Amino acid sequence: MNILVTGGAGYIGSHTCVALLEAGHSVIIADNLSNSKEQVVDYVQHISNKDVIFYKVDVTDEVALNEIFSRHLIDGVIHFAGWKAVGESVEKPLMYYMNNLVSTMLLAKVCLLYGVERFVFSSSATVYGDNKVPFKETMDLLPTTNPYGETKVMSERILTDIANANPAFSVSILRYFNPVGAHESGLIGEAPNGIPNNIMPYVTQVAKGKLEKLRVFGNDYPTLDGTGVRDYIHVVDLADGHVAALENLNEGVHTYNLGTGKGTSVLELLKAFEEANDIEIPFDIVDRRPGDIASCFADASKANRELGWTVKRDLIEMCRDAWRFEKNL
Ligand SMILES: NC(=O)c1ccc[n+]([C@@H]2O[C@H](COP(=O)([O-])OP(=O)(O)OC[C@H]3O[C@@H](n4cnc5c(N)ncnc54)[C@H](O)[C@@H]3O)[C@@H](O)[C@H]2O)c1
Repeated sequence: MNILVTGGAGYIGSHTCVALLEAGHSVIIADNLSNSKEQVVDYVQHISNKDVIFYKVDVTDEVALNEIFSRHLIDGVIHFAGWKAVGESVEKPLMYYMNNLVSTMLLAKVCLLYGVERFVFSSSATVYGDNKVPFKETMDLLPTTNPYGETKVMSERILTDIANANPAFSVSILRYFNPVGAHESGLIGEAPNGIPNNIMPYVTQVAKGKLEKLRVFGNDYPTLDGTGVRDYIHVVDLADGHVAALENLNEGVHTYNLGTGKGTSVLELLKAFEEANDIEIPFDIVDRRPGDIASCFADASKANRELGWTVKRDLIEMCRDAWRFEKNL
């Protein structure tokens, strides 16, 4: 298939482009590079030994989207493009709603116009709010406490309504848990601008000496050691989940959790990183971060069953691959 990957120069998008190319699909990337670098596109081509078509465009630009769709015969879209910093979304809600919602609506509009019937959307476990773990796709969605999370809930609803009104338009909504790690080549991975919001790049930057100490937000949660529990998933396994979702997409709207189904506390993650890489990570326990929940992990059985997809990489590989990438930066 010929797949348009929006946000394909980003962290999850770049790994998914590699997975698509390795599975024999062709890739067109549309990315405005607002949170990524063009060099990533070269790395994707280098790793896969295949060419991709790259457009530096903003996917909220309808004229630019029309041009891409009229130039290429597109079989499906994987829509990663969007902003994801929770704190920034609280400070700049309008910017987040504009970027994340307008991009989703315009892409769906152009898909309908050009008869593109496969649409895979990047959602997040954040849509479950503070539900009881493990999170299941059938649960009611709860308020997410921030505009970023709301853009995911709203995008899911918008795509669901569009698919219901246009039966040929098939949508796969993928709810990611906590992607970490990097490609084993060490060429692509998570390289945030400024102070990282996510734990793994924070840890690797402490390991490298770029940051002094990890801040662990709270050790009084009702979890095994009091620190927050998350479902860390290797980004290459997550990327494979997209290929599986695309290749198994039937009519209608299908929602899948992409996680390992296993919760890991912050202290367990730190221990795994130290073990995997033989590096000590200094840390301080600080106050809880507003909006954080105690535990978040998936029931991933629906994706296992319906997509024939399971994770293959463990926590040690996640930590080893993340560190290899950081060392190369
Ligand atoms: N990383 C996570 O922890 C996580 C968890 C759940 C969901 N998600 C979602 O997955 C998607 C990808 O996340 P990521 O971690 O790869 O983020 P990322 O920032 O690395 O990648 C997003 C890419 O989209 C591009 N982009 C943003 N707005 C654009 C626009 N208007 N037009 C064109 N390109 C645009 C950026 O330049 C970037 O390359 C996002 O939608 C994110 O919300 C991420």
